[in-house]
Amino acid sequence: MKKFILFSILLSMSIATFSQAKQEINLVPIPAKIQVTGGQFTLDANTKIALSPDTPEMRQAVETLVRLLRRAGDLRIETVDSQPASNAIVCKLNSAVSNPEGYKLSVRKNLISIEAKTPQGIFYAFQTLRQLLPFQIERPYLSNVAWTVPCLEIEDAPRFGYRGLMLDVCRHFMTKEDVFRYIDMLAYHKMNRFHWHLTDDQGWRIEIKKYPKLTQIGAYRSSSLIGRPSRNKQWDNTPHGGFFTQEDVKQVVAYAARNFITIIPEIEMPGHATAALAAYPELSCSGGPFEVERNWGVFPDIFCPKETTFNFLQDVLSEVIDLFPSEYIHIGGDEAPKTRWQNCAHCQALMKQENLKNEHELQSYFIKHIEKFVESKGRHIIGWDEILEGGLAPNATVMSWRGEAGGIEAAKQGHDVVMAPNSYVYIDYYQANPKTEPLAIGGFLPLWKTYSYEPLPPALTPEQQKHILGLQGNLWTEYIPDFKQAQYMAYPRGAAIAEIGWSPAAKKNYADFKQREIALFKRYDGMGWNYCKAILTEEE
Ligand code: ACM
Ligand code: ZN
Repeated sequence: MKKFILFSILLSMSIATFSQAKQEINLVPIPAKIQVTGGQFTLDANTKIALSPDTPEMRQAVETLVRLLRRAGDLRIETVDSQPASNAIVCKLNSAVSNPEGYKLSVRKNLISIEAKTPQGIFYAFQTLRQLLPFQIERPYLSNVAWTVPCLEIEDAPRFGYRGLMLDVCRHFMTKEDVFRYIDMLAYHKMNRFHWHLTDDQGWRIEIKKYPKLTQIGAYRSSSLIGRPSRNKQWDNTPHGGFFTQEDVKQVVAYAARNFITIIPEIEMPGHATAALAAYPELSCSGGPFEVERNWGVFPDIFCPKETTFNFLQDVLSEVIDLFPSEYIHIGGDEAPKTRWQNCAHCQALMKQENLKNEHELQSYFIKHIEKFVESKGRHIIGWDEILEGGLAPNATVMSWRGEAGGIEAAKQGHDVVMAPNSYVYIDYYQANPKTEPLAIGGFLPLWKTYSYEPLPPALTPEQQKHILGLQGNLWTEYIPDFKQAQYMAYPRGAAIAEIGWSPAAKKNYADFKQREIALFKRYDGMGWNYCKAILTEEE
């Protein structure tokens, strides 16, 4: 027995040494197919990146790694449009690669070759290369290491086309630079959608030229609730606010595009509208006055479905659509109490005139009206699952947040769905023991629970499952005062969401993911990204 133990120890030591010499491979998300072939490619000052074709988008696909190599290794890698036979990373577009986001990466001792259908696929191959290089690649100062990549063959493509995270900048304002970092982290994990929650009761965060009071008044609140809502509420007596100018928004959209990320802007209606109503109280049922909310929760004053409101919202959406190229415009739709509508003469008359049976049907009328407008601009609406109540608008996509039920129902009705159930991917919920964690909104979603999420519900037929476009994690910021805390809540759960969205279901393995993710932590450290370390002490 003793001999056997000694043998096992020696064996595991030699495996450990071998894998060290071979260089550890810890990719998140894990590629669809990977075969390690032995040996390594070394980047040096003579290595070239060959782009075929040499276009601005192809240059975008490689620019992050070129910058990191210069910063961390003082390697100045040139891009060329010739086809070197050795010491090069040769990138080619090839229409035979079936998935538009997929890529093939072949690392041999003297040449790295990459093929993809689109520059986006090349970009993802470079994100993989970045994780294959020594971790010092992420450090902002010169490292004296060999820039080696293990020889291997990867064939990779995402499982889902929609892989994203949301960020709420209303409950707590985050700067443009914060948003850039959020985008960096998405791109690093091969996510391709950033849902930007821009309007809510506690703050309106996007400049709208036609309605300056939205930001003059709506972007600032006098105070914020301390802790959770309770009988003895206390506020911090500290004004809070901020907003993004249209110039800021253009820069963020351009930054996201360079990272092959589409931003889905959200303008909330008819509920979560207090900040807008504080600026323009005439858009409510009662006429106000209102103040920008300093409490967290759901509030009764919502947009009144009258002509001035529709004109206002259409003007706002016109400016938003001009700023954001996204196919989808998120119109909110969640948590809209109907009490004001029940007591509003206009609302009640409109319901009679339109033959609407109840206020849910009035909300459906509201959303359909807005959908018609958004469609007239060549875009589509996406909304929280409450937009199912009273009847879905004809082309609406549903974001299922109250569990998966709304998503299942929408898919059965033939509508597209993004799964974002609070039972798995609400990354504002606690991720470890609430006794030792910073105050959070509640819930309990440790990394393993988030990782266990499967976006295709067995309740749907394979045909209906095709409507599930993918998944998204949501980061609401009532209890997240700054960006450092936002990063802490978002990762590593964001990495789990990325792997669910990208990797084949058959490759999912929590123990393996956890080990790869822990290995990435020193890379996050190199980039100065904050994250939660609870899994280092998690009990099995
Ligand atoms: C939501 O969490 N209210 C969409
Ligand atoms: Zn009304």
